[in-house]
Order: sequence, then C-alpha cells, then structure tokens
Amino acid sequence: MIDLPYTFDVLQDEKVILSEYDNHIIRHLSAMKGQFIDQDNYEDMLSVEDTILYEVYELKRPEVAGELLHGLSVLHPGKVGDEYFMTKGHFHTVLDTAEVYYCLRGSGYMVMETLEGDWAVEPLRPQSVLYVPPRWAHRSVNTSLTEDLVTFFVYPGDAGHDYGSIELQGFRKLVLSRGGKPQIVDNPRWLTPEERR
Ligand code: F6R
Ligand code: ZN
Repeated sequence: MIDLPYTFDVLQDEKVILSEYDNHIIRHLSAMKGQFIDQDNYEDMLSVEDTILYEVYELKRPEVAGELLHGLSVLHPGKVGDEYFMTKGHFHTVLDTAEVYYCLRGSGYMVMETLEGDWAVEPLRPQSVLYVPPRWAHRSVNTSLTEDLVTFFVYPGDAGHDYGSIELQGFRKLVLSRGGKPQIVDNPRWLTPEERR
C-alpha cells in the first residue's frame, strides 16, 4: 500500500490538542514509583488519588530508521512535596538518536544527562525549540502550578525508549520549588558512573 503524505492541525483553544492522533497514552502518579524525592508525600498523595500526571498523543508510524515519530506531550501542573510534576524520562534505546521539542504552552524545563554524567537543564517556554542531541536522556518538568506544559516532539522511528537506568536513581538534577520559585538542585540519590560500578 502506498504511504501518503498527510497534514493535521495543532488546535490551540482552551486546551491544546491534535486534530488527529492514533494513540493516547495516560501516565498516572502510580507509574512514577520511586521517582519523586519525597517518598512519603508521594505515598500520601497516591493513597488519596492516582492523579493523571501527563498525557501523550501519538501518530502511529512504523518504528524503523527513516521514519519520524511525532506527537504531543501534555504535562499537567502540580507538585509531589516540593518537586514539580515531571515525565518519567528516558534514554533512547538506540543511543545515537536525537529529538526535537517545540514548546507550545506553559513553562518548565527539560532536564538532561548523558551516561558519562554530563548534565544540562534548558528552559521550555512557548515558541521555544529544544534540540536534544543523541545520547542525552531527557525528562520534562512543569514549573507552572496552574498551566499544562505542552510540547510537540519529533524523533527517529527506530529510537526506542530505555527507562531502566533513570528508574534506578533518577536524574542528576532535580527541579524543586524553593520560596515559590523553581530551583535546580543536586539529586542526593544520584551516583557517579564510577560509584555505580
Ligand atoms: C519520545 C519522547 C516524548 C516522551 C513524552 C513522555 O522519545 O521523548 O514523546 O515520550 O514526553 O515522556 P516519557 O516517555 O519519559 O514518559
Ligand atoms: Zn525521547
């Protein structure tokens, strides 16, 4: 069957939504066990409600080199203790694959790191474009307490997702609310590549 070009719209009304998508992934608080630094607060919140943290709308494409996977990520506002709502975060299984994020709405950061321990934290604000180079794990953090952080992403079809190493100890840097403002701080659980051996 011939593969035809297509067009769709990013509808930006009260909510941002794609005019077409194939998959709607919903990630709840329960999917983030061990990720937030304040474990007690996490358990307390979870015992009340399994809140939706973020939603991803994907267009289905073959997961092979040459294709580009694309869609919308909607990260809702909120905090667990002092830590803002965030995505799980991952390396791409094929490490040498990059990703582009275009921020449509909200405010936050992309927290990134390499296997070697380099780190970077870049702001996400409307109309900004973030380039995540190959080999960098990435996690988005919503630092607004009222608005969704909405990004459109594009990455290679064969990239795959490796959540494992991030699940073990999180990212090197955390984004916490300090005096009502976001602050980037060291993650006390994070070990250097040498310490991990
Ligand atoms: C794809 C990508 C994004 C994220 C999405 C949710 O490679 O980086 O589409 O998948 O923002 O984050 P995760 O996958 O970390 O739960
Ligand atoms: Zn990715």
